[in-house]
Amino acid sequence: MLVGEKVILRAIERSDIPRFVKWFNDPEVIRFLAMHVPLSVAAEEKWFERQLEDKDTRVLAIETKDGVHIGNLGLHNFNYRDSHAELGIAIGEKEYWGQGYGTDAIRTVLKWAFGELNLNRVFLRTYPFNPRAIRCYEKCGLVIEGRLRQAIYRDGQYHDEIVMGVLRDEFLGAAR
Ligand SMILES: CC(C)(COP(=O)(O)OP(=O)(O)OC[C@H]1O[C@@H](n2cnc3c(N)ncnc32)[C@H](O)[C@@H]1OP(=O)(O)O)[C@@H](O)C(=O)NCCC(=O)NCCS
Repeated sequence: MLVGEKVILRAIERSDIPRFVKWFNDPEVIRFLAMHVPLSVAAEEKWFERQLEDKDTRVLAIETKDGVHIGNLGLHNFNYRDSHAELGIAIGEKEYWGQGYGTDAIRTVLKWAFGELNLNRVFLRTYPFNPRAIRCYEKCGLVIEGRLRQAIYRDGQYHDEIVMGVLRDEFLGAAR
């Protein structure tokens, strides 16, 4: 497992599935995510089985130091030739939002991604109506790289998608 200052990142387990179903059916959580269709236990079980085989994705559970599983984080679509991957994160337990857990979880996974997995770039996609996420990513060293205009539709209107990224030298340089 990966140990941060406030969180531990561990492998996801089959027994975590009921929590995933709760979080990913909560409109206040999925508003900020790409998923939008109500999620069944059966669908999530299938997703879990696929994760076990998928060498291009690593999903980890975010736990507080006292053992509360508050969310997940993942590196997706590993590109081994160009050394990059896409980061996704969701803290599903809403009372834990805004207390630094997301920042610590991302810094911890970036340390692993750049220091152990030999990635050169980690990027993510987020939405302009998620300032908490954008601030969290900036604190972790990600910068806005560009905007995909009107790429998503929420609440009856189109919004840009924001692409943010961080390079290994930037992250390790800042951590030194
Ligand atoms: C996005 C998310 C991972 C961030 O993790 P977190 O633990 O809540 O974030 P942190 O507490 O580490 O950092 C949030 C920062 O944003 C600030 N913030 C909170 N609400 C804000 C707002 N409305 N506007 C601007 N900044 C805000 C906080 O004050 C904090 O910054 P600070 O430390 O300088 O004070 C988490 O909130 C989450 O999973 N939300 C739901 C799903 C989601 O949005 N996923 C991301 C999809 S791209």
